Amino acid sequence: MSLQIVDHPLARVLISQLRNKDTLSPTFRKACRNITQMLILEATKTMSTRPVEIETPLESTEGSIWDEYITLIPIIRAGIAMVDPILEIFPEASVGYLGLERDEETTVARNYYRKIPHLKNQTAIIVDPLLATGGSLLQAIEICRKEGAEKILIVTILAAPEGVEAVSQKHPDITIITAVMDRELNQQKYILPGLGDFGDRLFNT
Ligand code: URA
Repeated sequence: MSLQIVDHPLARVLISQLRNKDTLSPTFRKACRNITQMLILEATKTMSTRPVEIETPLESTEGSIWDEYITLIPIIRAGIAMVDPILEIFPEASVGYLGLERDEETTVARNYYRKIPHLKNQTAIIVDPLLATGGSLLQAIEICRKEGAEKILIVTILAAPEGVEAVSQKHPDITIITAVMDRELNQQKYILPGLGDFGDRLFNT
């Protein structure tokens, strides 16, 4: 498994805004957009392009077009916040939705909604702001594999070592892109120091 951590002062500032309990939802939403765009740039930095001939106003030159196609798989609910900022950069990407809800007592995720296109020849990018136990992501990976995905990336804003370990144990071929690796999970499976419940903070609930 490869773990890519975006190492940039802007990422550290944005993560601090997300962590701060006094950050209100407008700032939280903006920081989420901006950090997501930094993460997707990191995630796609080795994506393939192919050369094309283009005409500038002055002469012809060689340019690039994409040779790899993306399907985003946001995990509802919080993953939805990461879709728009990515579509601003990759407007042609497909989007498949996956509803996974954590049972607060058992902490096991339940799949209550699934609308995923066929993923053969696509780069499937699963987006979920937090990687805690990895339970939801493991289910999401299985579902993507069943839909034919060969190349799967995980883009997450903040990760816990327990979740990274769970994913890498089962899927050593998968790359995880994150902005920060936190210390640990608490008994309720929240990330420490973390940022609290991402969905509640994002949707102001
Ligand atoms: N989900 C959250 O919203 N926060 C955590 O800390 C862990 C999972």
